[in-house]
Amino acid sequence: MSLQKEIKTSHRVIRCYQLADTNLDKITVDSFGEEWKSFHGFSNKDLQWLGDKYFDIVTPDMLNNTMKVIDVGCGSGRIIKYLKGRYGQITGIDPSQAIFVANELIGKEDTVELIQTSTDHIPFADNYFDFGYSLGVLHHIPDTAKALNDCIKKIKPGGYFLLYLYYSLDNKPFYFRIIFFLSNLIRRFVSKMPLKMKKITCNILAVVLYLPFVGLCRFLKWLRVPERIRKNIPLQSYESQSFYLIRNDSLDRFGTPLEQRFSKKQMQKMMEHAGLTDIIFSNDIPYWHAVGKKTE
Ligand SMILES: C[S@@+](CC[C@H](N)C(=O)[O-])C[C@H]1O[C@@H](n2cnc3c(N)ncnc32)[C@H](O)[C@@H]1O
Repeated sequence: MSLQKEIKTSHRVIRCYQLADTNLDKITVDSFGEEWKSFHGFSNKDLQWLGDKYFDIVTPDMLNNTMKVIDVGCGSGRIIKYLKGRYGQITGIDPSQAIFVANELIGKEDTVELIQTSTDHIPFADNYFDFGYSLGVLHHIPDTAKALNDCIKKIKPGGYFLLYLYYSLDNKPFYFRIIFFLSNLIRRFVSKMPLKMKKITCNILAVVLYLPFVGLCRFLKWLRVPERIRKNIPLQSYESQSFYLIRNDSLDRFGTPLEQRFSKKQMQKMMEHAGLTDIIFSNDIPYWHAVGKKTE
């Protein structure tokens, strides 16, 4: 692993590592760099909503303010911001230009370190961190299982790791898979567009694709139709999200060249294989997210 440069900013020094020949997809990483430059103005309400969804299965014995924590693929740094006060020290890593967006979003915080690097070059000794998480990241990496193994190596035995991977719609009716098949065709096309056109197209998709479903779900919610029924409507998970988060997700979903999807069974197996035990899956969105303990 070779250190390429150290960039001094007014908030902290950011170490940047050599990214050639690492387990990453360069076009996808560049696309994320652009995505986070466009989306970093999260309201506190959005951050709270988002973070609470991911951390619903994390208890204070797994994560608290004495611990050394790693955020793998921190993007804009929004989750680090959400977690303020719940860690002793936190290290955010990301290979994209988003690391500089995170630097601005988090601002001056002595307990936060940011490093531009990839999962297979995490510059810490094995068994170093008490808690780690990677949210919506490893499915954008060519070898997801290897990336997970590389992350878990850095967690202490007895420490915990929270993982969110895109699901393969394995808990949904078959028509979700048909809709996904069609939307995936759109993604393959949109993700190849030049940046400006991609952003405009994703904003249009947020209006014409997301909003009709979201509007229907909000209307049914207003009519007090139970959630278990609304859950059968595609994109129901967005019914409580702001339009800002919906636009961000539209660019995330349709603008990203590489994405992979996993069933709950596949994710469980991958987590076990990486050395995690006592795995708890959330029954709530986003699917699938789960936490596991590194074997002692
Ligand atoms: C969908 S974003 C999620 C960002 C953040 N976890 C969040 O929830 O806001 C995926 C992130 O994974 C990062 N990423 C892609 N390949 C990576 C790799 N090999 N190692 C670490 N991060 C990577 C991207 O640069 C991007 O910022």
